[in-house]
Amino acid sequence: MVQQPLLERYRALINLPDHTRIVSLLEGNTPLIPVPRLAEEFGGGFNLYIKFEGLNPSGSFKDRGMTAAVSEALGRGVTALICASTGNTAASAAAYAARAGLRAVVLMPEGKVASGKLAGALAYGAQVLQIDGSFDQALELVLEISQRHPIALVNSLNPYRLEGQKTAAFEIIEELGHAPDWLCLPVGNAGNITAYWMGFRQYHELHRNSLPRLLGVQAAGSAPLVLGHPVEQPETVATAIRIGKPARGEQALAAAQESGGRIIAATDEEILIMQRRLGAEGIWVEPASAAGLAGLAKEIQAKSIELSGRTVVVVCTGHGLKDPDIVARSLPLPTKIQADISTLEREITSY
Ligand code: F0G
Repeated sequence: MVQQPLLERYRALINLPDHTRIVSLLEGNTPLIPVPRLAEEFGGGFNLYIKFEGLNPSGSFKDRGMTAAVSEALGRGVTALICASTGNTAASAAAYAARAGLRAVVLMPEGKVASGKLAGALAYGAQVLQIDGSFDQALELVLEISQRHPIALVNSLNPYRLEGQKTAAFEIIEELGHAPDWLCLPVGNAGNITAYWMGFRQYHELHRNSLPRLLGVQAAGSAPLVLGHPVEQPETVATAIRIGKPARGEQALAAAQESGGRIIAATDEEILIMQRRLGAEGIWVEPASAAGLAGLAKEIQAKSIELSGRTVVVVCTGHGLKDPDIVARSLPLPTKIQADISTLEREITSY
């Protein structure tokens, strides 16, 4: 079957103005991969799935929101887009702007963006600017500039981003036939958890399906929603969620609470262990994307979650190709050998 643009597939459920002109790279429709071996390792007795959002066109879930934000902006006659980003929003905005024939300007914290994301933004032809500062500062700057100039802001403060991103909740319900009991996902600027909750609630109002509990997971070094106050100098190996002042923090906390779930923190080490564990399932994700699983593992270990007979979906938000350098830093490097058969034989048999 030919894949449809996300906005056409869910036209009736997405709130976009009439002037919208669809810009699509055939995003969404990502796989929900069962991982029974991993569920067994966690104690068994429940169903565990990975929603692999890294398989979107620019390699992250941002494409779901970007198709909506860029389609609305194009229809309104905008000619340029801007965003602040830890990398994935920048790559996605650049890709959709290119597709629409619009100009894209992206602002990122220097030295804190994974190389695949920076390369993506450049490859799609965006104007890439870096500041000696944090994502939070970059966001303040683009917010102000978008109020002074006719340039559309496509961060998740833009409501259409959430309209697009909520479709991941629809896909999960349609595939499982019901909502999961728990949905675990990383939290950075807090747009995605807010969008999932919108999606699950909307479906619930229409079809009376059950609602999931949300487990949002921040990196311990940048966990303002867990600490209850902004973090001036956030630090984490999961650079995608290196955010100290989440724009949609209050909504995220309200969503987690309303769902009967919570927002917790996982350490860099816990995140990297789960990144490797996912790799052992054939699912390569960037570090931030392993945070949801790290949080779940932590809750299971602490016995603070009851999973018997339940269904759990873990959202893996971005592809491992986004951040190849972290692999070189956290895993053994390749072994160089001589180009002869006996050396190869020795290496293989002694491994
Ligand atoms: N996972 C990945 C891979 C991300 O890139 C982000 C956010 C998140 C999770 C968190 O999502 O912000 O909606 O809570 N990345 C943004 C960016 C900030 O600029 O690419 P969130």
